[in-house]
Amino acid sequence: MIFEEGTGIVRTRMSSRIPGFYRLGVGERRRQVAAAAGLPADAFDALDSGGLDQAAADGMIENVVGRYALPLGVALNFRIDDVDYLVPMVIEEPSVVAAASNAAKMVRAGGGFRAEVSRPIMIGQVQLCDVADPDGALAAIAAAEPLILARARAVVPGMVARGGGPTGVEARVLSRPGQPDGGMVVVHLLIDCCDAMGANIVNSVAESVAALLAQLTGARVGLRILSNLSVHRMVTVRAEVPHAALADDEQSGAAAADAVVGASRFAELDPYRAATHNKGIMNGVDAVLLATGNDWRGAEAGAHAFAAQGGTYRPLATWRRSPTGLTGELRMPLAVGTVGGALHLHAGARLALAMLAASSARDLAKVAAAAGLASNLAALRALAGCGIQRGHMALHARLVARAAGATGELVERVASEIAALGDVKPARAREILTRLRVELDAGPVSLVIE
Ligand code: MEV
Repeated sequence: MIFEEGTGIVRTRMSSRIPGFYRLGVGERRRQVAAAAGLPADAFDALDSGGLDQAAADGMIENVVGRYALPLGVALNFRIDDVDYLVPMVIEEPSVVAAASNAAKMVRAGGGFRAEVSRPIMIGQVQLCDVADPDGALAAIAAAEPLILARARAVVPGMVARGGGPTGVEARVLSRPGQPDGGMVVVHLLIDCCDAMGANIVNSVAESVAALLAQLTGARVGLRILSNLSVHRMVTVRAEVPHAALADDEQSGAAAADAVVGASRFAELDPYRAATHNKGIMNGVDAVLLATGNDWRGAEAGAHAFAAQGGTYRPLATWRRSPTGLTGELRMPLAVGTVGGALHLHAGARLALAMLAASSARDLAKVAAAAGLASNLAALRALAGCGIQRGHMALHARLVARAAGATGELVERVASEIAALGDVKPARAREILTRLRVELDAGPVSLVIE
């Protein structure tokens, strides 16, 4: 256990605080993350092939002609339920990892994220068509629930042995005889998927009990497939941000808190804004899911269907004032796994999970959701303040500096000069780099930036 000075917080494992991390080279970042996460020093070598070798890629999907790489970054400062996490994020968009890290630091100042994760219950749907007596069908299904569950459990004995498996059956009438779609009933098989995302398990169960359901109801079987609107597999993450953490050179903490609440209200009142607000949340969620080999399209589908469930598209996260600052909450369905899926083939995804040290799918869900809430806070804080372009420009300046040939600490020097000049162009970066190199050769110039 480590006592963190000044905060009174006791850490029980790695710290997610690594000051100056962004200034390091990739090799040193790997070394520090491996050390912090207790991984072997060569753990990151697997990423030199993108975490996926050609043969594994060929076995993963069809008609493979190669592999397609994206950057894997690490978001820092995350503390969730008093535990620190180094958060792996795969994304092509600049600023997202830095923004999530900054917002996590603000939340950390308020004690860190608090999360609640439900049991990992997925829904398998069986569509029953040509149902002559829908109400009778519902009654027959309710009466036969023990039999249906027994058949369903027999399909997944391993999962049942691990304490999961089918747990309940629900049915609804979608349409009645005489209506354009005829008699249609949908049956929901509720299945605890333990640490798996569960798509294969759920689909297998749905397919295997469909004939029994048809027999019980005199119906014709339609589709048998999971629902991505996994309303029984929910995650809620909360954050408190003190005024002091929100303040900057341009705005007091109280003014920034008011502005974030105003931005939240905008999304609550307007679906056009809510869509973009939720996109910002999914920047964080998807990046963690992609890094850990999870089905981010499923999470996207579930998130947006949930956001629209009340009949109006709503923000997944909202912010309110508290006496000491801001309080935010994100609530969304999130079906993720730490076993199965692409994990057995993708070494990069396995490494990301190891770095995260998530002990279960529920743990992973709360980290992904915290990354979502952090991304949302960062976006609203910036949008309600000086806007997001300044931050983008600083990152872009670093890219231009690197492209001009700057390495190590010269990247920061060149980037900050071209950004300050407002001339973020390769030619200007090359010119400044040449000058700095001459200065360096000429004598001792301090390159230590703190
Ligand atoms: C950009 O990827 C995400 C934002 O548009 C989110 C938002 O507007 O809240 C900045």
